[in-house]
Amino acid sequence: MRIQMNGWSISYDTAGEGLPLIFIHGFPLSRKVWEPQISGLASYARVILPDLRGHGDSDALPGPYSMDTLAEDCISLMNNLGITQPALVCGLSMGGYVAFAMYRKFADRIAGLILSATRAAGESDEGKAARETAITTAKNNGVNAIADSMLHKMFAPATYASQPDLVHRVQKMMVNTSVNGMVGALEAMRDRPDSTPMLSNIHKPVLILHGEKDQLIPAQKAYELHAAIPGSELVVLENAGHLLNLEKPVEYNQEIRRFLKRF
Ligand code: MLT
Repeated sequence: MRIQMNGWSISYDTAGEGLPLIFIHGFPLSRKVWEPQISGLASYARVILPDLRGHGDSDALPGPYSMDTLAEDCISLMNNLGITQPALVCGLSMGGYVAFAMYRKFADRIAGLILSATRAAGESDEGKAARETAITTAKNNGVNAIADSMLHKMFAPATYASQPDLVHRVQKMMVNTSVNGMVGALEAMRDRPDSTPMLSNIHKPVLILHGEKDQLIPAQKAYELHAAIPGSELVVLENAGHLLNLEKPVEYNQEIRRFLKRF
C-alpha cells in the first residue's frame, strides 16, 4: 500500500488487528525484510511495516535525514492510519536507532519496544569516518558497491552456505535502495544521538533480541542494553546473525508472541 503523507508517498504493509506492532527495518533494506513476521504474527497483533523514506518503494527523497525525521515519518504513518493507541515498536539495527528516537520524542505513543540487533551509543570518531567513506562510495559508485561491502556481514557465517536463497533475496533488497536513501540514512546514522542516557528512564516493557553470531553489531551490545534498561528481557538466538528475524524466523516470532502476552 502507498499513501501521500506531508507531500510525499510512503509505502507500507499492514495485516491483522489489535495492538499496533510497527516493524522498522534496518539499512539498506525495506519492509520486505519482515515477511516472516507478517505471516507469523498478524494473527496476534496489527502488524504495520513501513518502508523508510528512500528505501523500498517509498519515495527516494533527497536528504538531509535524521533519526528524528525517520521517527516522525513513522508517527505520521500511525496518524494517517488513524492509530491513536500506543504501539509496540520493533526496530532492527538502524530501525532500533529510529525506535529510540520515537521513544525520546513520542513516549506517550509507545506501548513498548523490541530492540533487535541494535545498540544505544552514538557514532564513534572511527565510525563517523567510515560513514563518510560509505557516503562517498554510494555517491560515486552507486548502491551495488555498498551492498557488496555489507553483504558478508549481514548473516551468521554458516547462513551463507545453509540459506543461499535468503542471502540472494537480501542482496536484491539492498540494491533496490535509492542512492538518496542510502546517503540520507548514512548521514542520519553518522549523526545519531547517544541514546545511552535515556535507557534507565525507559519504563515500558522492552524485549531485546540479538543474534549470537551478529557480525555487524556484536551481541555484547545487547547485554549492555539489558543491563541498562530496567526490567528488560534479553534473548540471544544461537547461530543467528544480524538478520536474525530472517535467519531464525520461528524462534524470533515465538519470542515476540510470548512478549505480546504482556500487553
Ligand atoms: C543496519 O543494519 O541497519 C546498519 O548496518 C546499522 C549500522 O550500520 O549501524
